[in-house]
Amino acid sequence: MELATTGTDIEKVIVTEDQIRARLKELAAQVEKDYQGRDLLLIGVLKGAVMTMADFARSLQRHIEMDWMAVSSYGSGTKSSGVVRILKDLDRDITGRNILIVEDIVDSGLTLSWLRANLMSRGAESVEILAILRKPEAAKVEVDCKYVGFDIPTDFVVGYGLDFNEKYRNLSFVGVLAKHMYS
Ligand code: IMP
Ligand code: MG
Repeated sequence: MELATTGTDIEKVIVTEDQIRARLKELAAQVEKDYQGRDLLLIGVLKGAVMTMADFARSLQRHIEMDWMAVSSYGSGTKSSGVVRILKDLDRDITGRNILIVEDIVDSGLTLSWLRANLMSRGAESVEILAILRKPEAAKVEVDCKYVGFDIPTDFVVGYGLDFNEKYRNLSFVGVLAKHMYS
């Protein structure tokens, strides 16, 4: 089965593989500067952040630790429910740690504002957010995302970790899913 075809299931490519790599390098340099002399724990949000974490972590020229959480706020549709459930929790205690949450996308921002509050309540020293993508809707809620890759339109996108019904995560670019695929 063919992965994806521009013009059929993918309406258009909005962020290319090269653009992502270059942007993550810039963000990595910024993070290195901001966290100089401090420990850094990257927390990836499964499964969407897998690609971002893999590329971002390898762009960092310093020690980091990595942990993962899995939360669910979306069902199988394309709209956020606002209900967050922990499907997989952290492996270690985070008291006193400087945490950088690594996410695929800030859409409504509901997931991230909940997650940040959750991690702060466990005694983290600091909690910041890095997301490769951000939609305009994100501006409506109080979620301060310090490191953003790209601001994109409101369309439903797939690729580079982002899925539609668990598919398309393995595309190396981010594309707009053709409307006829889900309406
Ligand atoms: P939020 O809570 O609305 O900010 O978004 C929560 C999650 O929804 C994100 O971490 C993504 O996994 C997913 N999501 C939001 N927008 C999209 C999209 O355009 N394509 C695929 N998944 C999305
Ligand atoms: Mg998802």
